Amino acid sequence: MLFGGRSVENEISVVTALQTLESMNKEKYDVVPIYIAKSGKWYTGEKLLTVAHYRDMKTLLGQCSEVYMRPVYGDKNLYLVKPGLFSKGVVATLDVILPTLHGTNCEDGTLQGVLTSIGIPFVGCNTLASANGMDKITMKMILKECDIPVVDYFWFNDKQWYADQDAVIARLEAKLNYPVIVKPANSGSSVGIKAAHNRDELMEAVEYAASFTTRVIVERLVTRLKEVNCSVKGNYNDCETSVCEVPMRSGEILSYQDKYMRGGGTKGAKGGAKSGAASGLADEAAAGEGTSSNSCENEGMRSLLRELPAQLPEGETERIQALARATFRALACDGLSRIDFIIDEADRSIYVNEINTIPGSLSNYLWEGTPKSDGEKYRFSEVLDGLIEGAFARSREEGFKVTDFGGNIFAAMPAGGGSKM
Ligand SMILES: Nc1ncnc2c1ncn2[C@@H]1O[C@H](COP(=O)(O)OP(=O)(O)O)[C@@H](O)[C@H]1O
Ligand SMILES: [Mg+2]
Repeated sequence: MLFGGRSVENEISVVTALQTLESMNKEKYDVVPIYIAKSGKWYTGEKLLTVAHYRDMKTLLGQCSEVYMRPVYGDKNLYLVKPGLFSKGVVATLDVILPTLHGTNCEDGTLQGVLTSIGIPFVGCNTLASANGMDKITMKMILKECDIPVVDYFWFNDKQWYADQDAVIARLEAKLNYPVIVKPANSGSSVGIKAAHNRDELMEAVEYAASFTTRVIVERLVTRLKEVNCSVKGNYNDCETSVCEVPMRSGEILSYQDKYMRGGGTKGAKGGAKSGAASGLADEAAAGEGTSSNSCENEGMRSLLRELPAQLPEGETERIQALARATFRALACDGLSRIDFIIDEADRSIYVNEINTIPGSLSNYLWEGTPKSDGEKYRFSEVLDGLIEGAFARSREEGFKVTDFGGNIFAAMPAGGGSKM
């Protein structure tokens, strides 16, 4: 299991990873935790399995071993950076990788490219789908082409902005009316996002977004906003949707605090709109033997206040689920994603807002509320089994594709011929 990462969502990823581990069938899997520190270095060790140890990162990493994989196709070994005198330096040989990381360098295809180069099966989207899903501009372009509704948007890069702000603003104002919302194209967890109700606020919001990334997207701000999220799992040919949730926000937009810091202990969480199903599960986890140190401290996306399942007008849930599957397929996703929708309550238009190809908590709370075909609700361990089987199946299928075509073109060159092509 790979988690952490060079991303502003490093901590959230730790929560996702530890929650996922708790759900995993320990008899079936021998899990090797691999934490990617903010420095980019990889570590393994038992100490990584307890959330409280992350309070003191220096001590934690001192108690772990630094490790690496080699970019050599077919080498699935995890190596020690500093092997002992008598050890070969191989900590483990890995069969499959379960990435539970979020954000840049992790969820955006970067890591997926490394794993593909190594030739190790891994859960979730490949490089292409990860990259397309991460970039809010590219994602919206693809969805538009597939007739999937997205709110009106305008985009530019930071160089254009700094070279000629007036020109960018003129083009933007020709396309969109205020209020708008300004986002870094590749952020997550609401980081770098601000609403702007006039030109002054726009300029401030763009500077803020551009401090995080080079590509900036500006969208029409939906003022009578209702948000609905839905998870999809499977692959292009065979995918299914979870129940929907309505996340509860405290301000104009759903913030980092709403997502991750309103649960465990803060006032309002208990009496809030958190669904019976979700809070019940949290209590169960807290009561479980040996899990108390890992649960409730920070529940990640699971701690968000939500209505689950979403109470929507007749037919809207089905429409959202159909659009979620269409989005998953348009972006050629694999594994498990969460697709977030915006409903404009002014006219009940439904828009796809974004996809999260490695969602917080892997959307475990959504699947645990979803009935299977036999009417029983999913256990998340079963969902994980399906994801891991899917990773092996994809890897087998890729093995059938041609990667060597037509032999060696150099063999036909005259012997002793020049080196010029
Ligand atoms: N077009 C929009 N109109 C109104 N609110 C929006 C719009 N886009 C995003 N938001 C608000 O901002 C939040 C974060 O935006 P989002 O695109 O989901 O970025 P992130 O990837 O950081 O979650 C959303 O959950 C929603 O509350
Ligand atoms: Mg979002």
